[in-house]
Amino acid sequence: MTLHSDARVRDGEAGAADASRAADASIDVLVSEVGPRDGLQNTSQFMPTVDKQRWISAAVAAGLREIECCSFVPPKVIPQMIDAEDVVRHALTLSGLTVAVLAPNLKGGHRALASGAHKITIPISVSRRHSLANVRMTTEQAIEDVRRLCALRDSLSVERRPKIEAGLSTVFGCTIEGRVSEEQVVRDAVACVEAGVDEVGLADTTGMANPVQIRRVFRMVRAAIGERLGGAHLHNTRGFGLANVVAALEENVRTFDSSLAGLGGCPFAPGATGNIVTEDLVFMLHEMGLRTGIDLDRLIAIRELLASSIPNEPLYGYVPGLSGVARQSMVLGVAAG
Ligand code: COA
Ligand code: ZN
Repeated sequence: MTLHSDARVRDGEAGAADASRAADASIDVLVSEVGPRDGLQNTSQFMPTVDKQRWISAAVAAGLREIECCSFVPPKVIPQMIDAEDVVRHALTLSGLTVAVLAPNLKGGHRALASGAHKITIPISVSRRHSLANVRMTTEQAIEDVRRLCALRDSLSVERRPKIEAGLSTVFGCTIEGRVSEEQVVRDAVACVEAGVDEVGLADTTGMANPVQIRRVFRMVRAAIGERLGGAHLHNTRGFGLANVVAALEENVRTFDSSLAGLGGCPFAPGATGNIVTEDLVFMLHEMGLRTGIDLDRLIAIRELLASSIPNEPLYGYVPGLSGVARQSMVLGVAAG
């Protein structure tokens, strides 16, 4: 299996820095860690900047190739992100890492461009009411911000252009609006491509997707925008997260967002809980014979940093409780007792 086009070079235009992060033939699936952004945006405790930086460094040492490090929101909206610039500055020193960030609006996009991040994701809610609750704009207004940001990107010299992703959110259901029209998902994906994004990722912000729906919607969007279809961003609210990963893999999706210890959730989507757990995702992919380039033991060890830095946050995951020996026994089909 080969990597999906996520790491492709946009129309052959991107500069040397981007080309060096181009498709990595040594992995089959790109696991994109979103804990420092999606995870921390929903925690009650502040993680000190130095701990965020240590987390990102440790994740890179464990083999993570892409990390969404922060979000450029007003600190008064999400105080946890007050140090976004400092976190990105540190992440940019780590070689081999695609430094991804979230920008909820054009102002955030300006900050993200100035930071030098390699990839900027703008969340675009298909649900109009979630869009208003989350970014105080309609979906159309948010896509207009994307268009302006893409125009700004195009005005930069080639080597300074980041990849821009529209992160379509509430794609599979919305806790405010209920059902979300799949036809509208396709229309919004097309509108984002027309606005100039490099790729469109599909997010199950509220964890309402099921595997059949995942296959259907990814297929519909791929039919409409082809290689501009990006990765899957899944939440585990109903425990369907890894089943949804398998469904997306069957649709040839090769990039998955996940969060260490399953931290996460959108503070503006009632009931939304954590992302799929990076450790469980990596273990499952390895068991399925897919290469991620990640050292699972080193990944699990990073949980200690979370436990000491934000001790009140629950840490989720099935795999971390298994000792290396138990995991090995499972691999060999030996009953672990
Ligand atoms: N970064 C820093 N400051 C920003 C900013 C950004 N991205 N966007 C707006 N601001 C500041 C403005 O400077 C202004 O400050 P002031 O009140 O001191 O004058 C103020 O915020 C209002 O700006 P405005 O453009 O009117 O935005 P808003 O108040 O309508 O807020 C969002 C819009 C998108 C910034 C806000 O709704 C938000 O941050 N939502 C959170 C989205 C999110 O992260 N969701 C979870 C992940 S999907
Ligand atoms: Zn999310």
